[in-house]
Amino acid sequence: MADGVEAFEAIVEVGAGTGVVTDSLVRRHPSARLIVFELGDELAAELRGRFPQAHVVGGAFHESVSVLQDLPAKTIIVSGLPFRSLSSRVVEPTVAAFADLLNADEARRLVQFTYQPRVPFTAPTGLCWHRIKTVWLNAPPANVWHLSKTS
Ligand SMILES: C[S@@+](CC[C@H](N)C(=O)[O-])C[C@H]1O[C@@H](n2cnc3c(N)ncnc32)[C@H](O)[C@@H]1O
Repeated sequence: MADGVEAFEAIVEVGAGTGVVTDSLVRRHPSARLIVFELGDELAAELRGRFPQAHVVGGAFHESVSVLQDLPAKTIIVSGLPFRSLSSRVVEPTVAAFADLLNADEARRLVQFTYQPRVPFTAPTGLCWHRIKTVWLNAPPANVWHLSKTS
C-alpha cells in the first residue's frame, strides 16, 4: 500500500494496527510528516514506542480528526480500516471526515486496501474511486484503491 504514496509532504495513516504499513511508510518516505490513528490503546502505545517520529493518536479517527490542523496540500491518507465490517455509526462520520480532507485540495487522495473487488464505500459527492492495483498473489487477492476529487 505504501507504493501508492509518492511525493507527499504529509501522510495520515488510519487504522495502523500492528504497524506493517507504517513501517513501510517510514522507510520509504522519511521526510514526510506522519500522523497515525489507531483505535486500540495497546496498539497505539506500541506504535508510539516504535515510531517516535510519528504523531500517534489513539481512539476512533472520526472522534480525533480535529488534531489534523495545518495539513499541507500534498497530504495523502492511507487507510487500513475494514469498512465493510464497521457499523454505519463509524463509517458515516469517518467518510465525512475523509471527504472534508480530500475536498480541501485536488492533489490529495485516500489510499485504501481491500480484499473485496467492490469499492470500499460509496464515494461521497465530488470524489471518485480508482482501482490502482490488484495483488493476485495475495490470498485472497487484495486491491488498492484511490479516492480523490473528480475534477
Ligand atoms: C485491518 S487492521 C490494520 C492492518 C494494519 N495495516 C496492520 O498492519 O496491522 C485495522 C485496524 O484499524 C483499527 N481501527 C478500526 N476502527 C478504527 C477507527 N475508527 N479509528 C482508528 N482505527 C481503527 C483496528 O483497531 C485495527 O488495528
